[in-house]
Amino acid sequence: MRTVYVNGEYVAENEARVSIFDRGFLFADGVYEVTSVLDGKFVDFDGHYSRLERSLAELRIAASITRDGIFEMHRQLAARNDLDNGLIYLQVTRGAADRDFGFPDDTECTVVAFTQEKEVRNPDMARTGVKVVTVPELRWERRDIKSVALLAQVLSKQAAREQGAFEGWMVEDGTITEGTSSTAFIVTEVGKLVTRPLSHAVLPGITRMAVLDLLSETDLELEERPFTPQEAYEAAEAFLTSASSFVAPVVEIDGHRIGGGQPGPVARRLRELYLARADAG
Ligand code: PDD
Repeated sequence: MRTVYVNGEYVAENEARVSIFDRGFLFADGVYEVTSVLDGKFVDFDGHYSRLERSLAELRIAASITRDGIFEMHRQLAARNDLDNGLIYLQVTRGAADRDFGFPDDTECTVVAFTQEKEVRNPDMARTGVKVVTVPELRWERRDIKSVALLAQVLSKQAAREQGAFEGWMVEDGTITEGTSSTAFIVTEVGKLVTRPLSHAVLPGITRMAVLDLLSETDLELEERPFTPQEAYEAAEAFLTSASSFVAPVVEIDGHRIGGGQPGPVARRLRELYLARADAG
């Protein structure tokens, strides 16, 4: 039984309560972050906190949170749940108010958080690589906000799973936007790393940002541009990044084997560098 966080209190998970009038529940009117815990360290905590502040500001949700308060809450949750490796999920909603589409006048935000155990350092998929299928892009136009309105991603992830894939890469106007819960990358035959530039079309991945920073430790050249499924099928390598997967090699896309069906050197190297940086941080 986990201890979870609800509006300033640490309670047993079966005693945690949120109102049925909560706007997160009624309208998906809220935002979230997922931060991994690697041997007790919160990976990229400041990046996740900054993005949380940005998502809240974009939705004009006035939460009274601070970086240090949220850090201490993460620390408490990890300690109270003996969590050395896994994830911390944090959600902030506009709060509970009688149902009305417009913003309520003076409602307290709802803040909840919980832990999830997960093998983050050495999951099987880091060795074997994962399969991806392309799926249609079904989301709204502000995908840069990490909102809890995730129904499109839920349906698309399920469609991917039903095809035996780990992830769905969403396609809009002929190019891949990103994964249902991760950022998409390919390495071209001439060794260029390609990922989509930031815009309203994609979530600004915190792991993406960290990986792009690490490029200075490699001789890889970056091309930020959209790419097509066909380019991905013909890529020398492909991989995805997220707080929960770090850097995961992709070995098959829509049935096309990538890099001979084995994790490629770029993905393996970037995963190593990412882990080393997280361990040092
Ligand atoms: N998902 N794109 C989408 C649509 C995402 O949902 C995520 C993260 C990412 C990667 O972002 P980051 O590197 O900051 O985790 C990209 C999280 C892990 C989730 O919903 O569980």
